[in-house]
Amino acid sequence: MHETLLPREFLGGRLRRMHLHDLAAFQAYRSLPELGRYQGWSPMSDTEALEFLDDVHRAPLFMPGHWVQLGIAEPESDALIGDIGLYLSEDGAAGEVGFTLQPASQGRGVATHAVREALQLFFSATGVARVLGITDERNIPSIKLLERVGFKFIESRQVVFRGEPCTERVYALPRNDG
Ligand SMILES: CC(C)(COP(=O)(O)OP(=O)(O)OC[C@H]1O[C@@H](n2cnc3c(N)ncnc32)[C@H](O)[C@@H]1OP(=O)(O)O)[C@@H](O)C(=O)NCCC(=O)NCCS
Repeated sequence: MHETLLPREFLGGRLRRMHLHDLAAFQAYRSLPELGRYQGWSPMSDTEALEFLDDVHRAPLFMPGHWVQLGIAEPESDALIGDIGLYLSEDGAAGEVGFTLQPASQGRGVATHAVREALQLFFSATGVARVLGITDERNIPSIKLLERVGFKFIESRQVVFRGEPCTERVYALPRNDG
């Protein structure tokens, strides 16, 4: 039933399942170290990336305790230009979002529109009361995106990420049923 939820068009792009044929496009941006600097992922070999794409292609949408990864694609060519991760907590009450957009597509609001679209889908398909966005305090483009989408700052916390002490900013967006 959930498969009828994708693809979804938005201004400047499409939210869709990722496929094995996205490998080259996926690797082109996921292998850029600066893009993954503040992210939970690291560049992968082609074999690992194919396995990842196969997994995310088949994964059921929004399973408690799991992340699901959606692709951001160009509207005309359908080429993959980024991805959005959505996590549903074990009890189904809370969510978390993460996002990546290839550098050539940045600066035009595409990621903002894609995240808004993904959150509409997430709120309508699940019972989550709120979604968190957690980002390094130095990640200004990510902070600006979260604020544009309507996330509110909750707290800062000290963490060790990749062996380095750093400060994370936690943002939250509550369900808006109004
Ligand atoms: C986070 C990330 C997706 C933001 O990319 P981005 O291009 O800045 O975001 P958008 O596509 O929404 O574009 C917003 C920019 O376009 C501008 N813009 C132009 N038209 C716009 C429109 N119609 N709507 C919104 N913004 C628009 C905005 O002003 C903004 O530019 P600014 O920061 O100079 O003010 C990108 O930097 C990235 O992939 N980073 C690496 C991964 C990462 O760290 N992710 C966060 C971890 S959770």
